[in-house]
Amino acid sequence: MNILILGSGGREHAFALKLSESKKLSKLFVAPGNAGTANCAVNLDIDPVDFPAVKNAVLENKIEMVIVGPEAPLVAGVHDFFLADDALKNIPVVGPKKDGAELEGSKEFSKKFMKRHNVPTAAYDAFTKETLAEGKAFLETLKAPYVLKADGLAAGKGVLILETLEEAKAELEDMLTNNKFGEASSKVVIEEFLDGIELSVFVLTDGKSYKVLPSAKDYKRIGEGDTGLNTGGMGAISPVPFANDDFLQKVEDRVVIPTVEGLQKDGIDYRGFIFIGLMNIDGNPFVIEYNVRMGDPETEAVLPRIDSDLLDLFEGVATQTLDKKSFALTSKTATTVMVVAGGYPEAYEKGKVITGLENVEGTTVFHAGTKLSNDAVVTNGGRVMTFTTLADSMEAALEKSYENISKVSFEGMNFRKDIGFDLKDL
Ligand code: AMP
Ligand code: GLY
Repeated sequence: MNILILGSGGREHAFALKLSESKKLSKLFVAPGNAGTANCAVNLDIDPVDFPAVKNAVLENKIEMVIVGPEAPLVAGVHDFFLADDALKNIPVVGPKKDGAELEGSKEFSKKFMKRHNVPTAAYDAFTKETLAEGKAFLETLKAPYVLKADGLAAGKGVLILETLEEAKAELEDMLTNNKFGEASSKVVIEEFLDGIELSVFVLTDGKSYKVLPSAKDYKRIGEGDTGLNTGGMGAISPVPFANDDFLQKVEDRVVIPTVEGLQKDGIDYRGFIFIGLMNIDGNPFVIEYNVRMGDPETEAVLPRIDSDLLDLFEGVATQTLDKKSFALTSKTATTVMVVAGGYPEAYEKGKVITGLENVEGTTVFHAGTKLSNDAVVTNGGRVMTFTTLADSMEAALEKSYENISKVSFEGMNFRKDIGFDLKDL
């Protein structure tokens, strides 16, 4: 089978490497990919939201299935585009259509969905410029800290957590009247603060049945001890030690099943990943958010723990036979540590030559923001690459990841040295 993956990050490199292990794979393409995907696939210089260009590439390379990495093409309707085109409609797309992608594309849509289907989540209400006064009054009914969320996609930056009522009111006004996050904050969801420990659970569904993939914990802040600015993710651990069988059973019963059944009840034919951001509050799961794709860097820790053929599972999604597919996980722990450009998540430079990659042993390097330039691998983004190790314990996996990071360098290179710090005594 010829496969095309859309996207260019560590997540897409992890997909590419896993799919390249499949006996069912013929040719693998990634658009646009990076210097890492170039080692296991053919990179195509195409923007994943340029659907006519994606169509040409699919027909030219006789692609038989498309795997969508990031949310942008899904929210923009890439799956719907395929179904509406006579030449593409029989080529399966792994990733929901526009209706399902609204679970990530609109916070209010996803909160209404959860309420409708009794999925445990924080109490909330949504406001616009016209209802600013009501929004401020709603804030007065809540306790600090206050959680404000831009309704639309805001590149992971649209959530504010404020300590005082005054700050919360001022930010609400700024979001609604000054378009602080552009069109994304023309509506704002205000919700109750959930006090617990965060983790993510991933589900692959064909719209009828589902597989619960390994759980993972991500480290979003740039600084050690979870301090400083938010990033796309600085590292991940899978499995999550505090997500024991009892907790995961509650997640399946209270969250996964109502979510998959809710999609069916709402007439949403959802085929793809559901990334469920959860808060564990005294052993009970509450949903913080849904994403309609895999996480990055969570994918780099989750996929290495799947022992089954990923392409076979994707075929199950495409033909709605996922329940018939074998699905095995390793009990080993995967840790991944992200290496970033100096300055990230604020301004940073690109084009720095990366050296030492050939010395890495016992760890998989998934490339994120890299590209090839005159045969050298150079940085091409804020998150540059991620070091994943699978081992019998989290400590052993982390040690190996860090040992291998020390063999690699580029100007300005930065990474968190404390990934997993909060999980060590659990
Ligand atoms: P989101 O983009 O919805 O995942 O939110 C970004 C981050 O804000 C989450 O990963 C949480 O750490 C935090 N967050 C979001 N909603 C809440 C909430 N209701 N209570 C506490 N923390 C939250
Ligand atoms: N690592 C968080 C995300 O992919 O949204």
